Amino acid sequence: MLRIDVITLFPAYFEPLQRQGVSRRAFDSGQMQLHCWNPRDFTTDAHRTIDDRPYGGGPGMVMLAEPLERTLDAIAAARSAASLAPAPVWLFSPTGQRIDQRLVETLAQSDGATLLCARYEGVDERLIDRRVDAEVSLGDFVLSGGEIAALALLDAASRLLPGVLGSAESAQQDSFANALPSHPHYTRPEQHRGQAVPDVLLSGDHARIAQWRREQSLRLTLQRRPELIAALAAAGQLSKADLRFLAALGYTPTS
Ligand code: ADE
Repeated sequence: MLRIDVITLFPAYFEPLQRQGVSRRAFDSGQMQLHCWNPRDFTTDAHRTIDDRPYGGGPGMVMLAEPLERTLDAIAAARSAASLAPAPVWLFSPTGQRIDQRLVETLAQSDGATLLCARYEGVDERLIDRRVDAEVSLGDFVLSGGEIAALALLDAASRLLPGVLGSAESAQQDSFANALPSHPHYTRPEQHRGQAVPDVLLSGDHARIAQWRREQSLRLTLQRRPELIAALAAAGQLSKADLRFLAALGYTPTS
């Protein structure tokens, strides 16, 4: 079971994930559990203060270390009461390690993590030093807080849990599971506003269809994410046929 503990001032963000779509199945089947913890509940002053102005001046507010320490202690106690091992603490931050499919897989195969959604100005560094295992980012842009990045990560992990997707194949054949963006997809009708479905997909010839899909996927990847092609080539994951096809598109292994 994947138990996720989320530290957030805005737990309502996490309700739709549990109530809708594919991710809902992971919760309904009991494979995934999500617990939200509001650091305001772990304050001790009358105003329930969770942040303060930065030492040294400057804009924005910084989240106080002490309420977060207490929240993390409560999470550790709850995991222990549920006979679960301590889980790593990940902090969402635009300067963290980029979230990718490998990180998603690591999470989906684990028994959980504690996700710390901070406001973007930040968290007292001493809390990070003491309690955070990794900082992770959704991309090179700044969100107002970690919640949306946490949702993206959790949605991606939920669909990797067994039985969550309709067909066991879907997750495997997915973009990036085999490190290539997906080929284009078509469904009915055969003609849409003057544009036809490629003939090969109507041929019933499964070998030709598989080859066409592979080539389309290689073509798209070379156009949009050439660094992925270079990484696959370096890892020896391109067949001779792949390399011949790419060469015809102008790709040379050293370029
Ligand atoms: N918090 C603010 N910006 C973020 C980003 N890009 N990724 C993850 N967490 C964030």
